[in-house]
Amino acid sequence: MNELLAINDVYKSYPASDGQVLEVLNGVNFKLAEKSIASIVGTSGSGKSTLLHIIGGLDKADSGHVLWNGEDITHWNELKMASFRNNEMGFIFQFHHLLPEFTALENVMIPAIINGKSESRSRQLAYDLLNEFGLAKRLEHRTNQLSGGEQQRVAMARALINEPSFILADEPTGNLDEQNTNQILEHLIRLRDQHSVAILMVTHEMEIARAGDLIWEMKDGQISQIL
Ligand SMILES: Nc1ncnc2c1ncn2[C@@H]1O[C@H](COP(=O)(O)OP(=O)(O)OP(=O)(O)O)[C@@H](O)[C@H]1O
Ligand SMILES: [Mg+2]
Repeated sequence: MNELLAINDVYKSYPASDGQVLEVLNGVNFKLAEKSIASIVGTSGSGKSTLLHIIGGLDKADSGHVLWNGEDITHWNELKMASFRNNEMGFIFQFHHLLPEFTALENVMIPAIINGKSESRSRQLAYDLLNEFGLAKRLEHRTNQLSGGEQQRVAMARALINEPSFILADEPTGNLDEQNTNQILEHLIRLRDQHSVAILMVTHEMEIARAGDLIWEMKDGQISQIL
C-alpha cells in the first residue's frame, strides 16, 4: 500500500480537574493509504477529535510521530504547517467553525483568496460548490442565519475549495437528515473515485462508517481495525 499518512505511537493526555491525568491517546498507531476512505468510530469522549486535531497539526501530541508522505510534521514550524493545511488539507470540523460575520459565499471564498486565487475566480469556485450542495439560494445569508445542515454543507464546500489531496472530517454528517447525509457521503466517495482524494472520517455511527474502505475503532486510548 502507498502510505499517505502514518501515526506512530502517539500519546496525549490532559490534566483532569481532580489533579489526576486523563490519558486520551495511549499509543495510537495508524496508517492511511492513498486514495482510500478510512472511518474511525468510537464512543463519545474516546479521543476521536483529539486524534484528528493532532493529525491535522491543530494540536500537538505529547509524544509520537505524525508522518504525511513520510515527512514528520512534529518538527514543522507554524508557517509550514499553515501552508500545508491550506494547500493539501480539507478539514471539516465537528462544530463547523464558520465565520459568523461573513456570508456563506464569503466563508467558502476566503481560503481560496488566502491561497492566492483572484477574488473573481474564488467567487466563481465558491458559487459552483455551493450550488452543487443545493445552497444557491443561501449565498448571501450569514452563517448564523443558516440551519445546522446548511452550515455543515457550507463547511464542506469551504473544505473543498482548494482541491485538497486529503480530507479530515469530524462527524461530517453530524446533524444532518438522511437525505443530506447521503449527499455528503456520495460526495466524499466521488472525490475519492474521481479526484483520488484520501479521506479520514470520524463518526460515532457505524452505518455512516461503512462508507469507508476500512473501519477503525478508538477504545481505551488505542485504535484497532475492526473491518
Ligand atoms: N483541551 C482539553 N482539556 C481537557 N480535556 C480535554 C480537552 N480536549 C478534550 N478533552 C477530553 O478528552 C477526551 C476525548 O475528547 P474528544 O473530543 O477527542 O472525544 P471524541 O471521541 O471526539 O468525542 P465525541 O464523539 O463526543 O465528539 C474527553 O473526555 C474530553 O473531555
Ligand atoms: Mg469529537
